Amino acid sequence: MGAAEPMIAPSILSADFAHLADAAASVPSADWLHVDVMDNHFVPNLTIGLPVVQALHAATDLPLDCHLMIDDPDRWATGYAEAGAANVTFHVEAAADPVTVARNIRAAGALAGLSVKPNTPLEPYLELLREFDTLLVMTVEPGFGGQTFIADVLPKVRLAREQVSAGHLRLFVEVDGGVDQETIVAAAEAGADVFVAGSAVYGADDPGKAVEQLRVIGRTAMNHATD
Ligand code: DX5
Ligand code: ZN
Repeated sequence: MGAAEPMIAPSILSADFAHLADAAASVPSADWLHVDVMDNHFVPNLTIGLPVVQALHAATDLPLDCHLMIDDPDRWATGYAEAGAANVTFHVEAAADPVTVARNIRAAGALAGLSVKPNTPLEPYLELLREFDTLLVMTVEPGFGGQTFIADVLPKVRLAREQVSAGHLRLFVEVDGGVDQETIVAAAEAGADVFVAGSAVYGADDPGKAVEQLRVIGRTAMNHATD
């Protein structure tokens, strides 16, 4: 097997919402651009929705990683795939019929992602994850940027990586929340391969350079873990 390669997904939640195209342009080497959609119901915060995702898709070539922190993804998720998102992740806690949502997302041409909040166990959903391309393990309570990484959730990352390594699942294992140059090490060693970072990228003087620094640290930790 070749060396494992991390994917870095800067979260525009920490960027200047008046200049989102510039925020995308400032991270040209990002693998995905992470877009946090919040509805003020599933989470207390309110951010952006479909029209902004459509506009952003037209303004950048970066693949969009839409993280839906919304109620009723059964009703809304497919629209994000139709809008051109590369990956559409919704929360298992919010979905009535996650399998159908995943199939609809895939049929619309995007990867399908399932997210679990910090207190949501993974075991009940291992079978379900066969319908998905991405597992997003929240490493903070969803809703706000700039929170502290919760290392207690890393056993879920480890479990997902074991399932992938054993051939039971084929998934990106993504972590989101409080990921920075220090916490990325533990996440990568636990088996994550996609790293969302908001404040660690857009709070830096040079967001593009911050992406590259995270990539180097993440790569080293991933390959250390698989040695
Ligand atoms: C939080 C969002 C995250 C957020 C991460 O609910 O899902 O994507 O932007 O921000 P940081 O990296 O600052 O914790
Ligand atoms: Zn997110």
